[in-house]
Amino acid sequence: MIRPFYLSGKPTHGTDSFEVRNPYDGRLIAEVSVPTDDQVEQAVADLAAVRAAAQALPAHARAAALDHIQHRMIERADEIAHLITSESGKADMWAHNEVRRAVATFRLASEEARRFSGELMRLDTDVAGEGRMALVRRFARGAVLAITPFNFPVNLVAHKLAPALAVGAPTLLKPTPKAPLSSLLLGELVAETDLPPAMLSVLPMTLEQLQGLLPDPRLPVISFTGSDAVGAAIQAAAPSKHIITELGGDAAVIVAPDWPDVDAAAARIGLFGCYQAGQSCVSVQRVLVHESLAEPLTQALIATMESLVQGDPADASVQVGPVIDRASATRITGWIDDAVSRGATLLTGGTAEGTSVAPTLLSDVPDDSLIANNEVFGPVITLTTFKTMDEAFDLVNRSKYGLQAGVFTKDIQTAFEAQQRLEVGGVIVGDVPTFRADQMSYGGWKASGQGREGVATAMEDLTDDRLLVFTGLPL
Ligand code: SIN
Repeated sequence: MIRPFYLSGKPTHGTDSFEVRNPYDGRLIAEVSVPTDDQVEQAVADLAAVRAAAQALPAHARAAALDHIQHRMIERADEIAHLITSESGKADMWAHNEVRRAVATFRLASEEARRFSGELMRLDTDVAGEGRMALVRRFARGAVLAITPFNFPVNLVAHKLAPALAVGAPTLLKPTPKAPLSSLLLGELVAETDLPPAMLSVLPMTLEQLQGLLPDPRLPVISFTGSDAVGAAIQAAAPSKHIITELGGDAAVIVAPDWPDVDAAAARIGLFGCYQAGQSCVSVQRVLVHESLAEPLTQALIATMESLVQGDPADASVQVGPVIDRASATRITGWIDDAVSRGATLLTGGTAEGTSVAPTLLSDVPDDSLIANNEVFGPVITLTTFKTMDEAFDLVNRSKYGLQAGVFTKDIQTAFEAQQRLEVGGVIVGDVPTFRADQMSYGGWKASGQGREGVATAMEDLTDDRLLVFTGLPL
């Protein structure tokens, strides 16, 4: 059966469809209906029409809907994890982790929806403001066009949908064609709530349809997670809109000379350079290790990476599944070959079988190689030695990206200095940059994007201030 999309809360079919296949073995998972141009137009018109009603929804109604979604996700957790694994190739253990995180994202949004109140500002600080006070509240900027990637097909969708529902912003969700089924399931759960049905459409649109919507004034906010090239194209197509982008990175981790447990650091770095087959914007790509620890860390890292269990992502013991498609596997091994041909040393890995890329460790990577300048989005780590912390901070900042960085140190001065000097959205001390709790402000500097996710921070980003000034008050 061809899966319907959700048009203003209703399961609906278009006239065309596309196939979704399991990235590991190419099995057909589902066929998904594509909306017609008229159906896309209907969804956008409905979003514009529901805007006032969505904004006027009381906090308890928004929160109740978000609670319903998180409870239904808990009830259907195994099914959702299975869906994530089959459509994106994410290993079962990480798929379950993603479902737990998405439940938390909806829970956080329901809590924030109840709290989101505004701020009083006294104005009698000067003579002209005597007897006056302002109430600053935030209101949704308008309908959101949310464009989501394959690597977290539930939780990165939740990070767009949950804050939007919490602030009463109608949303048009365009899931990735590589893994749209989880988004359709979320569309189903939202449709079960008492929210106005037109508040959400989930449309697996064509690229042409999406391009047509970018400048549409009825969608004043665009929230996109994906590559920096596509982010720049969106920005160019809709320069006057409020655009929130999360565009990835080549996350670095520093192992400082004071770090006492090299094996523990290597275990975290090896796993979180390869988990989800490296397909997280904050998976470890660059390891910067102090020269005094280079030899033991290198040996421990090779041992960790060679011990990772690779294979069928449906197998509960597998830690490293496939990348999303063969083109990605070919690109990744091409980048490894490029680095080696320019003088890099291959310490382990370097091969691919189908869509499964072996965990790969490279050292002596030349500055002009592809992998030294781009996000690899595969299970590949590069290793560089430094002499001073100054040099380490400079190496982190040499990247065009700036999403998150990790620093293995016990030294509080080093931790504060890292926060002060690293051009990234977040610094994780004593762990890999891959750590993310869903309430954390999350987003990038430089080419990693603009705006912030994290539920409360996203609610800020989706809304704007409006002031109400009271006069003649007995203050
Ligand atoms: C991402 O790939 O940007 C998301 C990382 C995460 O949520 O853990």
